[in-house]
Amino acid sequence: MKYYVMTLFPEMIEEGMNTSIMGKAMDQGLIELEALNIRDFTLDKHNKVDDYPYGGGAGMVMEAEPVYRCYEEICSRIGKRPRVIYLTPQGQVFSQEKAKDLSQEEELVFLCGHYEGIDERVLEEIVTDYMSIGDYVLTGGELPAMVMMDAIARLVPGVLNNDQSAETESFSDGLLEYPQYTRPVSILGRQVPEVLMSGHHQNIEQWRQAQSEARTRERRPDLYEKWLNNKNLQNKR
Ligand code: ADE
Repeated sequence: MKYYVMTLFPEMIEEGMNTSIMGKAMDQGLIELEALNIRDFTLDKHNKVDDYPYGGGAGMVMEAEPVYRCYEEICSRIGKRPRVIYLTPQGQVFSQEKAKDLSQEEELVFLCGHYEGIDERVLEEIVTDYMSIGDYVLTGGELPAMVMMDAIARLVPGVLNNDQSAETESFSDGLLEYPQYTRPVSILGRQVPEVLMSGHHQNIEQWRQAQSEARTRERRPDLYEKWLNNKNLQNKR
């Protein structure tokens, strides 16, 4: 997977992405990341990237030209026109399902806006996916881009150490994950549930499934409802 990020703050992306599992995946060449500074693509001698909005109003709007030239540079380098994800609260809300879909691509371009947004005409020209990471407003698209890149990268084969963990964690089957315990057996006056130390794999499986269901029903009744409906549908087939 190769990520391209079009941004006014490339160092924020580079610094945010080169630690932990993401950093290791990049060292191993499983994930590649290039942050391009939109400011490097201005034709203006002062490297100006924004201007006042037509029609008036507060704030500045990012100009179409440097964004377009930045995307064209990526396209001419790789000889194709990859999907472009524009991070905006006006997009579809990002989800595990969307992460799975996007993880199938060979390249992804993330476009990060700032100020009051980007000239609509370049969005119409290049954007294929409008994505939000939730119903709140951030100061720019960099954090949402990093959130998405992290969620997508862990679905790329080899990025996690065992293939299983990408699939068994929360959401992959529509339920939240069961609770986990490690040594010691007793701490803070609380014990590890007996069943986990029994060595009885079938009982452990059953206990974990029941915990997942109870936890989802309690903490995320919306997800639980969806999971129940799905299960009932499958039983009818
Ligand atoms: N830009 C600003 N807020 C955002 C959000 N919630 N999701 C994606 N991009 C954004």
